[in-house]
Amino acid sequence: MSEPRLTRLPQWQALQRHAYAIGQRHLREWFAADPQRGERFVLEDVGLYLDYSKQRVDADALGLLRELATARGLPQRIEAMFRGERINTTEHRAVLHVALRAPAGEKILVDGHDVVADVHAVLDRMAAFAEQVRSGAWLGHGGKRIRNVVSIGIGGSDLGPVMAYEALRAYSRRDMTFRFVSNVDGTDFAEAVHGLDAAETLFIVCSKTFTTLETLANAHAARAWSVAALGDERAVAKHFVAVSTNAAEVAKFGIDTANMFGFWDWVGGRYSMDSAIGLSTMLAIGPEHFHAMLAGFHAMDEHFRHAPLERNLPALMGLLAVWNNNFLDAASVAVLPYEQYLKRFPAYLQQLTMESNGKRVTRGGAAVDYATGPIYWGEPGTNGQHSFYQLLHQGTRIVPCDFIGFGQSLNPLPVQGGGDQHDLLLANLIAQGEALAFGKTAEEVRAAGTDAALAPHRTFPGNRPSSTILAQRLTPRVLGTLIALYEHSVFVQGVIWDIDSFDQWGVELGKQLAKTTIAELTAKDEPKLAHDSSTNALIRRYRALRDG
Ligand code: F6P
Repeated sequence: MSEPRLTRLPQWQALQRHAYAIGQRHLREWFAADPQRGERFVLEDVGLYLDYSKQRVDADALGLLRELATARGLPQRIEAMFRGERINTTEHRAVLHVALRAPAGEKILVDGHDVVADVHAVLDRMAAFAEQVRSGAWLGHGGKRIRNVVSIGIGGSDLGPVMAYEALRAYSRRDMTFRFVSNVDGTDFAEAVHGLDAAETLFIVCSKTFTTLETLANAHAARAWSVAALGDERAVAKHFVAVSTNAAEVAKFGIDTANMFGFWDWVGGRYSMDSAIGLSTMLAIGPEHFHAMLAGFHAMDEHFRHAPLERNLPALMGLLAVWNNNFLDAASVAVLPYEQYLKRFPAYLQQLTMESNGKRVTRGGAAVDYATGPIYWGEPGTNGQHSFYQLLHQGTRIVPCDFIGFGQSLNPLPVQGGGDQHDLLLANLIAQGEALAFGKTAEEVRAAGTDAALAPHRTFPGNRPSSTILAQRLTPRVLGTLIALYEHSVFVQGVIWDIDSFDQWGVELGKQLAKTTIAELTAKDEPKLAHDSSTNALIRRYRALRDG
């Protein structure tokens, strides 16, 4: 199962030599040598335009990266995923988020069973439920219609739904309120239900396992809040639905499994926002828009599966990420959407990318001797410009950036004197990529009349790589396409690094230790502590602060 050691592959070593040879060659030189670079280093398909000309690559680097991908068996690995093979080897599971958006009638078999038919059966139930709630036919315990939806979940059972709700707010029911609770911090729950009428509030408890501490604590709090306000345990039947793979635990919690929407172990939590985990999204935007979003995902899936490597958007994005990470030594990636509706997109991508590729051993269990997943972070533009862009332009670290923008705003706002605020927004996006790539030399600074002493402070080195992704307009379909682009790019990186991008064992240790610590924090008498001296002291200090 395990691949030959990555760093010993001739393709890897050729890339190292090439990176050394092109060294600090400046993007200014590349653009000067090839006046058409900005039109040639571009890839456009399925509604997305990707300009990667400001990445520090030439045609040879791209060719070598594709050779590396071929040597790593990328085309075969893509097929294995789409065929439903158990490519999540440490959990012995298939990885089939692509089945969640496969059109009805397509067949994908897991152990001889067609999972696409199952997906559509759940989608149909979700749509029927969403229609009932949105039309007012679904009544709460006291006979009032549902006007508020509170989704409870964490990680993959929260970040996708929150991001999609924010992203598609323009398409959502404005006469309904949607809120999300994830943190075990009671403040999150308290603020989420603040001002809501329990008689009009539906809770969706989202948890793949239905055993997650935070979600169960919040779900119990929600049930207590709801029952206290409505004065009847039977209210749960009308005010709680569950999304889970674990019917037994759902029933144990007290939600009738008739009000449960299922999914399957072949859907990873961070790849689940287009499964029933997206029920809140469907309630907000309606089944038709939800299906348009799925069609966008599917269009990118088809592109990823069938486009040759040299014209394959996720393959290119993934390989550029490997190049920056392993050959330019860039440890992080900034995702910078110039679209307010995508304000939670970087947070969503953090789980997608870092829970997937933050691994230190290969699929076979050998320690890697190369860097794996970079750190993803970001904020919407232009806000980030007035915050951390200083470091991007003049700091000592290289941070490759993904700029994301749209041709049309969903909220055009004319500017006095002509144009629209959207032009201001996009002018900033375009200018930032240009400034990062080309900078401003000391000579240019001095020529502009800057005092010699200040010139070093006002010089911009440039040669800082970025990609720009443009689409016409943020629609449900485009959102699906964009998310699938990143999902598959993450997969490509994992294939090159020979890691399992679909497990998350790294989250377990902290969870286990917390169980012991909870018992110690809540013990009546001073507990006997057997941790290290720092942990012991923190437990004692917390107890003293709390009780003092
Ligand atoms: O943080 C670990 C994790 O297992 C994530 O992978 C997952 O998305 C999240 O917890 C929530 O899990 P569940 O949906 O089972 O509550």
